[in-house]
Amino acid sequence: MNQLKNAWITVNRQCNLRCRWCYAGSIDFQKTSDMPVPLAKKLIDLIAQTGIKNIALTGGEPACYEGLGELIGYISSRGLNAVLITNGVALSDLAFWESLRLQGLSSLNLSLKGGSEEDYRKNTGVEAYGQTLQAISNVASSDINYVVSMVLSSDNIGTYLRAVKDAVDFGGKEFHFSFEHDFSVLDENEDVYDIQKVFQLVDGFQNSYEKLSEITKGHFQLHQSLPICIWDKKLIQKLTEKNQIITSCQLLERSGLVFDTDGSLIPCNLMHQVSVGKYGEDFQDIDSFMAFWNAPETKEIYQGICNYPGKACHYCKEKHHCGGGCISNWYHYSYDQLMEAFRVEKLL
Ligand SMILES: C[S@@+](CC[C@H](N)C(=O)[O-])C[C@H]1O[C@@H](n2cnc3c(N)ncnc32)[C@H](O)[C@@H]1O
Repeated sequence: MNQLKNAWITVNRQCNLRCRWCYAGSIDFQKTSDMPVPLAKKLIDLIAQTGIKNIALTGGEPACYEGLGELIGYISSRGLNAVLITNGVALSDLAFWESLRLQGLSSLNLSLKGGSEEDYRKNTGVEAYGQTLQAISNVASSDINYVVSMVLSSDNIGTYLRAVKDAVDFGGKEFHFSFEHDFSVLDENEDVYDIQKVFQLVDGFQNSYEKLSEITKGHFQLHQSLPICIWDKKLIQKLTEKNQIITSCQLLERSGLVFDTDGSLIPCNLMHQVSVGKYGEDFQDIDSFMAFWNAPETKEIYQGICNYPGKACHYCKEKHHCGGGCISNWYHYSYDQLMEAFRVEKLL
């Protein structure tokens, strides 16, 4: 369970979009917080020594980071897989895309933020839907592994298939869907969450499943982050048989390393407010890192964050597979409130 599998380096927090749901918004898409390239290289050296093979560069928007090509080249020269997480806008420029590819990029996650020019502008504040589709076309013409990803929420679950269809028309072949998470409580924001949105999302996905399968020819994965027990069992079975579902995450499995722009180890990209430790202070080489990572105090921090949300979870046979869902859920409602709302929903 605790084997390290993947690492993420957050190279910046600045971005060329202003997505309504984005966690980088809570620090105002800071332009001043770019990670120094030498620090990024030291982290790559450290990660390489842990045995992790995949290093994802994320942000903010990594395409706005000056050292991006250099870091891709550095990761690749160490025999590791450089993965780019991007909104794709900058990759509509074929020469820029080629320059990254030639540095040895291994794979790409290109995220779509809407299903039409208007929708995209509404969600991101920028008119760049056409550019994102052009980027998909550029990437699709190369031999690089890539997925087109989309964050689903109750706001877009009724319309997301439009975006998927357009992406397929421009060459998208593999799709990845995840759910919107709201960690703004960590910024001490007041919480105004409507629990019904959970069921709108679940029902919306369920109702769109057949059409989604038809459009993508079944080539998608849903990274769902709710307790599995609130889903229709038959749908979960179908998704599992077709390898179309991911139910846990690196945090619940303690299988990933996520570094913020200042070298802090954070539990998850969406939790920049929580530093577990920091490069240069708590560790600086593989020996001090492993001592830090395996220290009871560090394990306790992760255990404290990842407790099962409900008593019933402890007795559930799916518990390792499910993990209880994303911890951000429990900032808005308790497990018991969710289950009560689920029972009422089923009666309606
Ligand atoms: C922050 S972005 C960084 C990389 C790049 N700028 C992009 O948009 O793909 C990484 C991914 O996290 C998603 N994301 C941002 N805020 C989120 C949230 N509150 N809940 C779930 N996903 C979120 C984005 O939509 C994007 O797909």
